[in-house]
Amino acid sequence: MDRYAVFGNPIGHSKSPFIHAQFAAALGEQLQYDAILAPLDGFADSWQRFVAAGGKGGNVTVPFKEQAYQLAERLSDRARQAGAVNTLYIDSAGKLCGDNTDGIGLVADLKRLGVNLAGINVLLLGAGGASRGAIGPLLAAGVKQLVLANRTVSKAQAIAINFDQRVEACGYTDILGLDYQLVINATSSGLNGERPDINVSHLQYCQLAYDMLYGAKPAPFLQWAKVAGVPQQADGLGMLVGQAAEAFYIWRGKRPDIAAVLKLLKQQLA
Ligand code: ATR
Repeated sequence: MDRYAVFGNPIGHSKSPFIHAQFAAALGEQLQYDAILAPLDGFADSWQRFVAAGGKGGNVTVPFKEQAYQLAERLSDRARQAGAVNTLYIDSAGKLCGDNTDGIGLVADLKRLGVNLAGINVLLLGAGGASRGAIGPLLAAGVKQLVLANRTVSKAQAIAINFDQRVEACGYTDILGLDYQLVINATSSGLNGERPDINVSHLQYCQLAYDMLYGAKPAPFLQWAKVAGVPQQADGLGMLVGQAAEAFYIWRGKRPDIAAVLKLLKQQLA
């Protein structure tokens, strides 16, 4: 049976084995998908051992996405833009290929939620890896202007410089007054029970507030957006399933349905 795995540290709570098992069952694919705890200084060794034992492909999560980027012999455009790899596979020439499906997973989830990205202005909060990986796929989906705001403005500027003039970097106090129909929180602030400190006026035209984190309770950013009157809020669970679906497609050539697995995961979290 073909073997796949997710590599991380910690990895115990990863939902990827469950998600991929559901995809495989739904599409009639015979495969095994495990969670592998790689030592903090031993990702490359762990991956090589897995391949030597017949491993076909892998997902990579915190804190190994940059190491996977370094390890890959070939990079997709979206991995290069993100500066990180979350999906690995060996191509027909035997080369280790690195891709990044996080951003396309986000775009797939936004589509599921009914968002038409073509021609809209998007406010993206945060300038870490999560944010960087999302920009290319959002632009490719037709976003008109993407304002990248971060507490530390220099980090937003360092990312924006890699993209065209549709991406504008700023701090939280000098965000352009545009009609943002979509506001995405890609910061980790929710992990500390906080939210990015932006002015509520930026939510005035917002149809959907999206937080890349997920959990049993809505993140503070989503609670705030709801009180501010934003009609729709969503957490990052759908993005998680979306990135997995794209990885599955890379490995197996079949694209799984996101909604069915998302429903099961929501039931588990409740
Ligand atoms: P990731 O790879 O998950 O994006 P990261 O690279 O550590 O994680 O980036 C974390 C992001 O969350 C950064 O944009 C950080 O802002 P700074 O660059 O100013 O540090 C942001 N962040 C974390 N806690 C925050 C908070 N309480 N308020 C606002 N932004 C926060």
